[in-house]
Amino acid sequence: MKKLHADKKIPQIINLPRHLGIIMDGNGRWAKLRGKRRIFGHEAGVLKAKEIVENSVRLEIEALTLYAFSSENWKRPAKEINGLMRLFERTIKKYTGLLIENNVRFKQVGSKDMLPKSLIRKLEQMEAITSENTGLKLTLALAYGSRQDIVKGILKIIDDVDDGRINKNQIDELTLSNRLSFSDLPDLDLIIRTSGETRVSNFMLWEMAYSEIHFTETLWPSFEDQEFFEILESYSQSERRFGSVEKETELKKA
Ligand code: FPP
Repeated sequence: MKKLHADKKIPQIINLPRHLGIIMDGNGRWAKLRGKRRIFGHEAGVLKAKEIVENSVRLEIEALTLYAFSSENWKRPAKEINGLMRLFERTIKKYTGLLIENNVRFKQVGSKDMLPKSLIRKLEQMEAITSENTGLKLTLALAYGSRQDIVKGILKIIDDVDDGRINKNQIDELTLSNRLSFSDLPDLDLIIRTSGETRVSNFMLWEMAYSEIHFTETLWPSFEDQEFFEILESYSQSERRFGSVEKETELKKA
């Protein structure tokens, strides 16, 4: 079986995040610094995403979510949006084989309403082909916004109450967790945001309640393995208490 860079050195890290989320930011600035068009930065960003997926597979991280395009990114110039959509499509086509060979399960979260039909087909094909895979759970947040996802979840609860499937008095945190796009994954343990911005930009607001957040100045295309491993190492040594005095206890979904 062909593996991604099988000869690459991967450190032993004891306490890995179960679910890692990355806000990949800084592609445009990276390109500008090199006197290139923004799409050049996005292309470099894809290569970096591939490296991170590869590292996550080798480290045996359970779930990785990459924020590729937010619901707010539709406000960007049409030319950049079209370039990005074509890039997403090329990327999926190019890496489908690699994901299969590495037992990665792929999913897209976000609204498909405004995505090009051809991209939707590719995303759905990739989801179907990899759906039985048992390795890394890779999620691409594409046309995703956490507030919109929460509103959709609330509307589902209202429907379920109206139709008698659940009783209003039974509603708790899990009622909503189970109706969000990330219902089949553990909550986020660690978020990394590149490029020096210290915001969370509508990314997994519900799922990050107990997450550690690491902001780095590094622009996404320059985010190297060594920094990635250092962040994971530092996470590994941190102690998460979930607001109690006990050591980390997992908050399980029903
Ligand atoms: C953030 O940089 C990047 C994006 C919004 C584009 C999407 C990300 C990629 C192309 C990389 C990975 C893609 C896949 C399919 C895994 P920015 O444009 O906001 O940069 P700036 O803040 O410097 O302008």
